[in-house]
Amino acid sequence: MCKMQCFLAIFALYIGLVNSWDIAITTGGQLEFYSNKTKTNNVGVRFRDLTALAYDAVHNMLLFVDKQNDNASIFSYHLATKKYQSLVRRKSYENIQGLAFDPVNGLLFWTDTNERSIYYMSLMLGSKNDVYGNLLIKMDDEIPRAIAVDSCRGYIYWTNINITKPTIERAKFDGTERETIIDKDIYMPVSIAVDQRTKQLYWADDREGIHYSIESSDLDGNNPKTLYMGTYHQPNALTVSKDAVYWVDWGYKSVWKLPKDSPKTLDPVELIGFSNEVPFGIVANYQISDQTEGTTECEELIKLSQNKTVINDTFNIPRDLGLFCLHGVKNNEKLSCNCSAGYTGQRCEISVCHNYCFQGDCEVSSEGTPACRCPSGFKGERCEINICNGYCLNKGVCSVNQDQEPDCKCSKQYEGLRCEIMIPINSVKLDRSLPTSTEKCNCTQEQNISKTVPISSENLRNSELPYVEITDCNYGWDSIRDPVIMVLGIACGLLCVTCTVLFTKVLKLKKRPRIKKRIIVNKNVTPLTARPDQCEITIENCCNMNICETPCFEPRSTIRPTLLDAKPGKEEKKNLINNMEYPEDY
Ligand SMILES: *[C@@H]1O[C@H](CO)[C@@H](O)[C@H](O)[C@H]1NC(C)=O
Ligand SMILES: *[C@@H]1O[C@H](CO)[C@@H](O)[C@H](O)[C@H]1NC(C)=O
Ligand SMILES: *[C@@H]1O[C@H](CO)[C@@H](O)[C@H](O)[C@H]1NC(C)=O
Ligand SMILES: *[C@@H]1O[C@H](CO)[C@@H](O)[C@H](O)[C@H]1NC(C)=O
Ligand SMILES: *[C@@H]1O[C@H](CO)[C@@H](O)[C@H](O)[C@H]1NC(C)=O
Repeated sequence: MCKMQCFLAIFALYIGLVNSWDIAITTGGQLEFYSNKTKTNNVGVRFRDLTALAYDAVHNMLLFVDKQNDNASIFSYHLATKKYQSLVRRKSYENIQGLAFDPVNGLLFWTDTNERSIYYMSLMLGSKNDVYGNLLIKMDDEIPRAIAVDSCRGYIYWTNINITKPTIERAKFDGTERETIIDKDIYMPVSIAVDQRTKQLYWADDREGIHYSIESSDLDGNNPKTLYMGTYHQPNALTVSKDAVYWVDWGYKSVWKLPKDSPKTLDPVELIGFSNEVPFGIVANYQISDQTEGTTECEELIKLSQNKTVINDTFNIPRDLGLFCLHGVKNNEKLSCNCSAGYTGQRCEISVCHNYCFQGDCEVSSEGTPACRCPSGFKGERCEINICNGYCLNKGVCSVNQDQEPDCKCSKQYEGLRCEIMIPINSVKLDRSLPTSTEKCNCTQEQNISKTVPISSENLRNSELPYVEITDCNYGWDSIRDPVIMVLGIACGLLCVTCTVLFTKVLKLKKRPRIKKRIIVNKNVTPLTARPDQCEITIENCCNMNICETPCFEPRSTIRPTLLDAKPGKEEKKNLINNMEYPEDY
C-alpha cells in the first residue's frame, strides 16, 4: 500500500543517516553518531576502548584515542570515505585524556596526564614527526587533562586538575606565551571547549562532593560566569555547538544538553542514556560556517573551508587492530586470541600452571591441562594434602615411607599404627613412669584438657586405679580467659535475640509499599583514572509508616536537584510516590 512512500521515507532516512549528525560519542569500542536523540550510525567494530575525541569540521574527520590498542593510540576517521588511519604510536605508560585539532595548521594536540605533558603532531604534507608525537609543553606541578584549540586566534587551552592548585591555562600553538587565565573558584576542571564565534570558553567543573558546575568565561579568562550548578553528575568531556553545550556524565552514564545562553534556572536535558558502556568523549557537529559567522579573526579558517588543504594522516604506524597474543594466534574477526595448549588469559599470557600446584612441579599435559608432580609427603591433584597431617596421635612422630604412606614413631606410653593405644601402667617400669616436672605440666593447648599420668608408687598402693587425673596444670578455671569467654558467650546470645527480633520486623515490613530509589554517588574520583568509580545506592523498603507522613530520608530529587533550587518538600514527596512499586497483593 505505502510502497512508494515507504521507499522514499527509508531513502530519505538513509540519506539523513549518512550525512547528518548532531553529536558523536565514543563509548566502549564504538564511535556513535546521534541526531536529535536517535542513534544514526556507529563505527568501530574493530576498536576496543575509545576515549578522547576531537572533530575537524574542515576535513570532516574525527580523531580519537583507543586506549587498548597495542600499537597505536590515536586514530583518525574520515566521515566521507569511512576510512580510518593510525596516527600516533602507543607508549607503554601513557594516559591521553584530551585531544584537539587545529585544521588551519594541521596540528593535532593531546594531553598526557601521566607524563604531565602536551604533545603535538603535524598532519601537514611533508612535516616530520616523532612516531610518539612531539613534546610541546612539559609541566611539573600541573596535571593537564582537557584541551581545546582556537584556530582563529591560534591558542591552545587546557585544564590542569592538580587539586591543590587547579587552573585553566593557554599558550600559542608553539608553546610560547603560556599564561594562566582561570585560577579562582575552580575545583577540578575536567573538560574544556572553545566557541570561536561567541569568543567564549566553556568548561565543566567536577566540584567537591556531589556538586558540579558548567562554567564559561571570555577567551582571556575575564567575566567568568556559572551557567549551571548542579549535583550528582560526574562530567567528563564537554563540547559546544551552535546553540548548546553538551557533556558526558559518568554519574548517570548519559549525555546532557544545556542551552549556551542559559539563564541559571534552566535545567539541563538528558539526551542519551547508556546502559552498559560508559560514554567518554563527545563532539558536536559545529560547522565552520556557523563557527566563523561574523568573526573577523577567522579568515584563515573561512578560506580553508572553501579550499581545503590536503592533510596527511597516513603515517605508517602499524595498525594492529587485533590483539597482541603472547602464546597464541590472533583471531582478528573476534578480536580475541586462540591460545596454544597450556595458556589462558585474554592475551594468552597466563600459563595454566600459574599458581596451580601447592607443592612440587607443574607440567602441562598434551591436552593442555596442568598436572602436578608432588614431593615426598604430599598428595592430591594439586599436592594440597600433607600425608602426615593429623595422622599420628598422642605426639607420635610422623614420617613417610617409600610407598608414600605415613609411619608413626610413638612416644613412650603409646603404641598402635597411629599411636592411639595407651600402654597400661604395669607394662611400664615404675621408675621411668614418674614424669619430670616439665613433662607433667606441659600445658600446651594441643593436649587434652585433662591429662592422665601415672601416679607414684605410694599412691598406687592406696588405690586400685593405675591412673588418676591430675589437674595441677591449670586446665580448670582460668581467671582471665574464662570470664572473657563467658562475656563473649552472653554477647553472642544477645546478638542472636536481636537478630531474631529484627528478622521478624523485616518480614512484617515486606508487606508495605516498596519504595525504590536510586542515588548515584558520583564523587570520589581520582583524576588519573579514565573510568570513574561510581557507587549506586538503592534505597528500598525504608519507610515503615504512611509514606505521605514520613519521607524516610533526606529529601533530595535525584534527577535534577540543584543548589539554587530551594524547593524541597513537595517535589521530593511526589518523587517518592512516583517511585513506589506496589507488590502484587496490593
Ligand atoms: C526531534 O525530535 C522531536 C520529537 O522527538 C521532534 O519534535 C523534532 O521536530 C525533531 N527535530 C528535528 C530537527 O528533527
Ligand atoms: C600540585 O601543585 C602543588 C604546587 O602548586 C605541588 O606541590 C603538588 O606536588 C602538586 N600535586 C601533584 C599531585 O602533582
Ligand atoms: C587553493 O589552495 C591552493 C594551495 O594552497 C592554491 O594554489 C589555490 O590557488 C587555492 N585555490 C583557491 C580557489 O583559493
Ligand atoms: C604491534 O605491537 C606488537 C608488540 O608491541 C608487535 O609485536 C607487533 O608486531 C605489532 N603489530 C604490527 C602489525 O606491527
Ligand atoms: C613440652 O613442651 C616443650 C616445648 O613446647 C617440648 O619441647 C617438650 O618436648 C614437651 N614435653 C612433653 C613431655 O610433651
